[in-house]
Amino acid sequence: MSESRAVSVERGLAPVLRARVCQAVQVLERVEAELLPAALASSFSAEDMVLLDLIRRHAPGIGIFTLDTGRLPAETYALQQQVLERYGPVVRTYFPNPAEVEGFVAHYGANGFYHGIEARRACCHARKVAPLQRALAGQRAWLTGMRRAQAVTREEVVVEGFDEHHGLVKVNPLAEWREDDVWAYLRSRRVPYNELYDQGYRSIGCAPCTRPVAPGEDARAGRWWWEASGQRECGLHRAPAGATGWLKCAAKP
Ligand code: ADX
Ligand code: SF4
Repeated sequence: MSESRAVSVERGLAPVLRARVCQAVQVLERVEAELLPAALASSFSAEDMVLLDLIRRHAPGIGIFTLDTGRLPAETYALQQQVLERYGPVVRTYFPNPAEVEGFVAHYGANGFYHGIEARRACCHARKVAPLQRALAGQRAWLTGMRRAQAVTREEVVVEGFDEHHGLVKVNPLAEWREDDVWAYLRSRRVPYNELYDQGYRSIGCAPCTRPVAPGEDARAGRWWWEASGQRECGLHRAPAGATGWLKCAAKP
C-alpha cells in the first residue's frame, strides 16, 4: 500500500499513531505479497487484537492462530467468542497433545509449575511450545504482537528478523509501538479487548500464572511473578531474532 492510500484508510487517527499504523500496514502487505504462507500467533492480547484487526482489513491472506493451553482465563474465552462473532471463523486454535499434558500432570501435579523453573518450563512446553511447533509447520513467516517496551527481555525485538530456532522469518509489526498507541488504536476502531485489562492486568497469559500489576510496576510483573524477572519468558520466543532485510530480498521457495 502506498503511504497516501494507507493514510486515507486510517483517517481520523492522531498523526503519530497514523504514521505507526501506516508502517504496520505496509509491513503486513509486504508479508502478504512476499511471504505466504504466514500467520499471526494471537493470545488475544491488546497488541494481538490490533494486528488481527489490521490483518482482516488490509492483508487477509495472512492466517491467524491461537494456542489454547487449557488454562486460559474465562475472560480470554469470552473475547475469543466476541472475535468469532465480529470477524467470523478467522482464528485457528491449536490444543496441546493430551499425552504430553497427562505426562506433566502425572509427574509434577496439575499446578506443579509453582514449584520451580524446571516444572514451569515443562508445563509451558507441553501447553504452548510444542503446539507452536505444529502451528508453524509449513509457514514461511510468523507474526507476533511483541513490543520492545514490554520488558527488559524484549529490548532487542525488531520489526523483521529471522527466527533461527524455528527456521523462518519472524515479524513483529508493533515492535516500536508504545502501550498508549495500542489502546488508542483499539479505542478508535472499537476493537473488542480482554476485560481483564480493566481489572489492572497489563499482560495476560494462563489464569494461574497471571495477576494484575500495581501502578508503576513493569507491565509483565504479573506474569510468573514468583520467578526472577530475567526468567519470565515461556519459551515461545527463544532468542532475539536478528534483522535480515527480508523486506528487500526474501527468496521464494
Ligand atoms: S509470552 O511470554 O506468553 O509469549 P506475551 O503474552 O507477551 O508473552 O505474548 C507475546 C506474543 O506471543 C503475543 O503477541 C503472541 O504473538 C504470542 N503468544 C503468546 N501467547 C500466545 C498464545 N497462547 N497463542 C498464540 N500466540 C501467543
Ligand atoms: Fe502452564 Fe502457567 Fe505456562 Fe500456562 S503459563 S503453560 S499454566 S506454566
